[in-house]
Amino acid sequence: MIKTIDIKSTKTAEVYRYLSNAVTPRPIAFVSTIDKSGNKNLSPFSFFNVFSVNPPILVFSPVRRVRNNTSKDTLDNIKEVNECVVSLVSEEIAQQVSLSSCDFEANVNEFEKAGFTELKSELIRPSRVKESPVNFECKVNDVIELGKEGGAGSLVLCEVLKIHIDEKVIDGKDELDPLKLNLVSRYGKNWYGKTTKESLYEIVKPISRIGMGIDQLPDHIRQSNILTGNELAILASIEKTPIKKDFPLRDNKNTSEKHILAKAFLQEEKFEEAWQILL
Ligand SMILES: Cc1cc2nc3c(=O)[nH]c(=O)nc-3n(C[C@H](O)[C@H](O)[C@H](O)COP(=O)(O)O)c2cc1C
Repeated sequence: MIKTIDIKSTKTAEVYRYLSNAVTPRPIAFVSTIDKSGNKNLSPFSFFNVFSVNPPILVFSPVRRVRNNTSKDTLDNIKEVNECVVSLVSEEIAQQVSLSSCDFEANVNEFEKAGFTELKSELIRPSRVKESPVNFECKVNDVIELGKEGGAGSLVLCEVLKIHIDEKVIDGKDELDPLKLNLVSRYGKNWYGKTTKESLYEIVKPISRIGMGIDQLPDHIRQSNILTGNELAILASIEKTPIKKDFPLRDNKNTSEKHILAKAFLQEEKFEEAWQILL
């Protein structure tokens, strides 16, 4: 059974819950801004991502409060001073970031409220967050308002001018290491995600190779009741069906038995054996 939600007949607060509980996990931007009098603001936004590399563009979206249709201080500040620092949120600072999201008065400095250390930016006026592993100094090129009612987002298009990375999160190859970065993500309700070794895995897809695709798998494999879509996708990631070799385990097995064994081989990452048992 499928539950279907008709947007027109659903209250905005409910639509908000469906969208934010469904579109997960989301990365979190911790955004530092100032108003024209120099009042500082620091707030998290998980309606956030990277959208361009050249120019390098990050986008986050402050949403108009549903209860009273007011705008967030971050957006008001950006309209006055079109600069911001976008910082990333590691597990070490997640509680402080959550604290900073309270609706403090506009003149309250969340650096102080949430116990963060300000670092002067090099090219812009808003400060960086010392405790964050990665800080992006940005100028705001554009703000695209998506509506006027409560719940309306405003896309803040931020061009990255400088990136500051804590060397502690860089690996031996001068790359960012996801486990050292230890970023948290936002799920629905009060849930957050961690970046643990158990939660990470690789999907190897060499650019030099074009997979045959599930549609090209032999029918007796493609129509399996035992192999999942993910498992068929792994088998279909090579260019063509491998050549059948002697494989004693295959002898005297019916289709179901072969598929069960193939599944076990795939779970052990024994790709060649999985194919051979199926041929
Ligand atoms: C992890 C996290 C993510 C959030 N993401 C968003 C978001 O994407 N958009 C939004 O409008 N509010 C979001 N909020 C709520 C704002 O951070 C909150 O309204 C904040 O008080 C806004 O502050 P400001 O008025 O000082 O800009 C989020 C809160 C948390 C804790």
